[in-house]
Amino acid sequence: MSSEESNQEEEFTWEAYYEWIEGREPRPLFTEGLAKFGDTSGSEMQAIDLGCGDGTETLALLEAGWNVLAIDGEPAAIRYFESKVPDELRPHLQTSIKSFEDLDLVETNLVYAGFSIPFCAPEHFNRMWGNVTDHIRPGGRFVGQLFGVRDSWAEEREMTFHSLDQVESLLASDFEVEALNEIDEDGEAFSGPKHWHTFDIIAMKLNPSVVKSGQSRS
Ligand SMILES: C[S@@+](CC[C@H](N)C(=O)[O-])C[C@H]1O[C@@H](n2cnc3c(N)ncnc32)[C@H](O)[C@@H]1O
Repeated sequence: MSSEESNQEEEFTWEAYYEWIEGREPRPLFTEGLAKFGDTSGSEMQAIDLGCGDGTETLALLEAGWNVLAIDGEPAAIRYFESKVPDELRPHLQTSIKSFEDLDLVETNLVYAGFSIPFCAPEHFNRMWGNVTDHIRPGGRFVGQLFGVRDSWAEEREMTFHSLDQVESLLASDFEVEALNEIDEDGEAFSGPKHWHTFDIIAMKLNPSVVKSGQSRS
């Protein structure tokens, strides 16, 4: 690593990233995933915004009438958006500063994980994924991104990357896949130009008594 690269790494903070994306709209995948629930007015809906970052999707969920548990490992994330939550919506928001490796989840209709859970260390990823899966109610959804093996960051030892086959097998037994789009293209990140290899996922949790072959699991 050159000293220039090393300096860039030392300067990186998640807070600077939140400032960089200040004022953004909710991400298109989030909007598409939320629309799959249809009209939820009058229903008690729970979401987890996992790796909530700047909180844009947390705020959108609160405004849409959902209860939200917003989780991030970085205290600056929660500080960043908490003051933007209107007083009348505060009773519907819970926040938690927790790492993906040590999550404390609630039963939920939606786990939204926008560009976040690939930052979980590989040795903890499968346990974290099992924990996430177990807390989504039947008929609820996982909406979020996983990163692919051709991503520029794939050498990062503290992050987790998947092949398409691996993504499909993570989803195979517990979910009906409603959307799985592979993105494999050059683009930009806060850190500069990079190759993005990501999977956009919308997946609905199956009832545990149902398996895709039509056989009972019991
Ligand atoms: C790229 S940001 C995404 C934030 C937001 N979901 C978005 O779409 O912009 C990744 C977030 O994951 C959080 N994060 C990274 N590693 C984490 C870990 N091991 N445990 C919990 N949160 C982590 C960071 O603090 C950051 O807010």
